Amino acid sequence: MNLFDVYPLIPVTLTKAQGCKLWDENGTEYLDLYGGHAVISIGHTHPHYVKRIKDQLDLMGFYSNSIHIPIQREFATKLGELSRLPDYQLFLVNSGAEANENAIKMASFATGKSGFIAFSGGFHGRTSGAVALTDNSKIVAPCNAREDFHIVPFGDLDAVEEVLKSNAIAGVIIEGIQGVGGIHMPSEDFLRGLSSLCKKYEAKLILDEVQSGYGRTGKFFAFQWAGIQPDLISMAKGMGNGFPIGGLLISSEFQASYGLLGTTFGGNHLACAAGLAVLEVMEAENLQAKAHELGEKVMEQLKNIPGVVDVRGKGLMIGIDLDRDAGLVRSELVKKYKQFTGSASAKQTIRLLPPLSVEWNELNSFLNALREILATD
Ligand SMILES: Cc1ncc(COP(=O)(O)O)c(C=O)c1O
Repeated sequence: MNLFDVYPLIPVTLTKAQGCKLWDENGTEYLDLYGGHAVISIGHTHPHYVKRIKDQLDLMGFYSNSIHIPIQREFATKLGELSRLPDYQLFLVNSGAEANENAIKMASFATGKSGFIAFSGGFHGRTSGAVALTDNSKIVAPCNAREDFHIVPFGDLDAVEEVLKSNAIAGVIIEGIQGVGGIHMPSEDFLRGLSSLCKKYEAKLILDEVQSGYGRTGKFFAFQWAGIQPDLISMAKGMGNGFPIGGLLISSEFQASYGLLGTTFGGNHLACAAGLAVLEVMEAENLQAKAHELGEKVMEQLKNIPGVVDVRGKGLMIGIDLDRDAGLVRSELVKKYKQFTGSASAKQTIRLLPPLSVEWNELNSFLNALREILATD
């Protein structure tokens, strides 16, 4: 049987990983500055993480949400503590798109309305509601297209208010920092403006923190830099350090009822063990503060490299615009310097999304490699 061929592949087969290092089948070592697409938060195969998952698997891997699962509560308590959002309620799912799908649903249930607003350059996943709110017509199938889902210019509060005036809008969804779109940050004023417009027109504000959350920017969630309180917060990538887990934080004004939301696999014992291990390591190794410190330092240095035309981001979520095609530079980074970086929708952009456990000498070796590549024509 052939695989359904939808992914353009880097010609490397990885067989081993530890911290920020990867090894291929021939034993060649690579540096991971991409984190498997912002997923690896605490570093590959962290010993505490591996042990917690193995221990849980020895006890029990799965049972359905029809029984008490104490590790879910333990996880929720730790998450409330580290995110400093203990009053939100947690609904556990399996992926980022599923978290957003449930956010959309909750906003619609609560307001009785069906319209939504999202932004140009945004990405929210590939399931029906999430993809309809994603600014990429190529991945929206005819059955997903929705007339009452509006994509308005990023940063334009007047455009948002114009649509909200219809009073048919259940929610506004925005990424804490746009990831796939190329690391574009909403200004703090824009986020605060959205928050007050949503209150004025009784729409729910949904912060998609699937990529920007989990300590990557130096706060637990990127929106926390703006000091707002969204109604719904979706998260996934960094949560499980590679174990599939996603979640939705639901503010205390939403009322739960039996059967309102549900999932077979969401919140299973193994996923919660992985999720708890991630939070425990983040806390013990102070990874959030470290991400901020190293991120600011690397961004300062990047700005001085000839050939770099723009540097954007916060903490370890960094977009670098080059004066040339970033695809060729990324290939050179893999082939010659054995370093993985990420792409973005714009051809000239490199994305850096390393594990939060990355060390300065590892980031510095990337700076040196980029300097050398950009010094040649
Ligand atoms: C901001 C954002 N939201 C949602 C998603 C979808 O997440 P998943 O691929 O886990 O469904 C992504 C994935 O890249 C993302 O970056």
